[in-house]
Amino acid sequence: MTEVIKVENLTLRYGNYTAVNNISFTVPKGIIFGYLGPNGSGKTSTIRMLCGIRPPTSGSAYILGYNIATHKQMVKQNIGYMSQKFSLYEDLTVNENLSFFARIYSLSPKEENCRKQEMIKFGQLEGREKVLAGNLSGGLKQRLALGCALIHRPKLLYLDEPTAGVDPLSRKVFWDIIKHLTTQGVTIFLTTHYMDEADGCDLLAFMYRGNMEAFGPPAELKQQKDAGSLEALFIKLVEERERKG
Ligand SMILES: Nc1ncnc2c1ncn2[C@@H]1O[C@H](COP(=O)(O)OP(=O)(O)OP(=O)(O)O)[C@@H](O)[C@H]1O
Ligand SMILES: [Mg+2]
Repeated sequence: MTEVIKVENLTLRYGNYTAVNNISFTVPKGIIFGYLGPNGSGKTSTIRMLCGIRPPTSGSAYILGYNIATHKQMVKQNIGYMSQKFSLYEDLTVNENLSFFARIYSLSPKEENCRKQEMIKFGQLEGREKVLAGNLSGGLKQRLALGCALIHRPKLLYLDEPTAGVDPLSRKVFWDIIKHLTTQGVTIFLTTHYMDEADGCDLLAFMYRGNMEAFGPPAELKQQKDAGSLEALFIKLVEERERKG
């Protein structure tokens, strides 16, 4: 099966407010899928449903073929999630944070040790094992959070604005890491407000007020809308929708 995510007519309402409105799409294996849209357009709400955290109001979704409503445990085992709000324990060390996440996923002590070494190397955190997470720089915190989200070797990784507030060099290192992950068959679902990052994605979706307004590879979307850059496309789509009201 090459479809890692399959979404059919998914809707999420908070009371009377529709945060995600009847969206459908599929994402193949081993790509970086960029989920774009202005603040409040429903990106995090979509991720919440696709992680099995929040049940949809209607519609259905499958992660690696597992229904998010009926196979929550299988979904949980196969996904990693780096949330938009910082998800580390600042008063625990690098090592302790990794252990904490390893234990949530019930890794054996042997697996825990082995994966921790792997994540420290992968995130270029060598020598910082005993540093409190709260004392790390923004870029290193993001890489530690990534290591924690990957400790159980998920096949699908959700990254909700992973590089917000991170300097350009740390952003580049982060991107090199996630590109490397795709070569190992990991699928990445990423939200970002940086259009240079969006250009590095294989597939994009553009959300506006809960609706999916565009879906396709970056080059195709730019061509369709006759936009010279993704930034121009983003502004064009928002302005078009705002004019419609
Ligand atoms: N728990 C909640 N209860 C009520 N409304 C909510 C809740 N969570 C989000 N919303 C509203 O739903 C809409 C979509 O929110 P969401 O967080 O999904 O947007 P987003 O695209 O992730 O935005 P951002 O780019 O700012 O992270 C917003 O108007 C938000 O205020
Ligand atoms: Mg969000």
